Amino acid sequence: MKDSRAELVDKILKLKEQRNAIILVHNYQLGEVQDIADFVGDSLELSQNAAMTAASVIVFCGVHFMAETASILCPDKKVLLPVLEAGCPMANMITAQGLRDLKKQHPGALVMCYVNTTAEVKAESDICCTSANAVQLAQKLEAKEIIFVPDQYLGHYVSTKTGKPMILWPGYCPTHARIQAADVEKMRKAYPQAEILAHPECRSEVSAMADFVLSTGGMIRHCRSTKAAQIVVATEMGIIYRLKKENPDKMFIPVSEQAICPNMKLIGLENILWSLEDLSPEVKVPEDIRVKAKRAVDKMIEVS
Ligand code: 13P
Ligand code: SF4
Repeated sequence: MKDSRAELVDKILKLKEQRNAIILVHNYQLGEVQDIADFVGDSLELSQNAAMTAASVIVFCGVHFMAETASILCPDKKVLLPVLEAGCPMANMITAQGLRDLKKQHPGALVMCYVNTTAEVKAESDICCTSANAVQLAQKLEAKEIIFVPDQYLGHYVSTKTGKPMILWPGYCPTHARIQAADVEKMRKAYPQAEILAHPECRSEVSAMADFVLSTGGMIRHCRSTKAAQIVVATEMGIIYRLKKENPDKMFIPVSEQAICPNMKLIGLENILWSLEDLSPEVKVPEDIRVKAKRAVDKMIEVS
């Protein structure tokens, strides 16, 4: 017989205590998963939490590269990804060999990798970044040339904000790419008083039309403090749940109902319970790769 939602939650919370586990949840996850989290946040906040926690087990509700980043930072902890197939198509658009080949073409260039990369790609990079700190980190980088992988749109955004020329890998997020300039125009007309927020993974023309370009964590903070009563949101739809929950008096309008990341919807309460019961599936980065990848992640955390 299927457990009711309340029973499931109860079992998860009890088992979590017994296992000395913490549940970290990305802002795009299903509402029912966000509701049982110890912490909900963006990629940077989740890595910082993973690095600081005293728990012995981290249940990571997000996608594979996020669990890998936690494993890079916390080799002594068990990092669980309740559905192992939850990947990020953008992270898979570049391989370590592809990056090595590009580095050969640009000797002397520094490599900045978006956190949405595999551990192997991080191991080939000089510094990691997230959408929350990419501009700030690039600003501080002293380099003749910067190779930015794999998100061409975030890279282009950082390059325009900092004025630094960048060599861009042609990767992109298939979910954010569904958001078109025409969607933003439509919303501007329909909600002329609204503020428009866009994630820097959006197409460059979409980011250029927004009032604010922010990471998901930046959007959460902005919406708490803004005086605007209506906010149009150009990112993955999952964030709307948290925005509405935290700001019941404000109106949130997704710019496109097409912006749903299927990978971010794979983890449900049952998967979390099974994962805590079996202490699997575990994500563990091999030590030689981990040590190299950690240098790029540490550099990010240090400078942020
Ligand atoms: P942030 O939550 O760091 O803004 O990034 C979004 C993302 O790429 C998740 O896939
Ligand atoms: Fe990857 Fe885009 Fe999904 Fe984020 S929203 S996990 S970048 S595919």
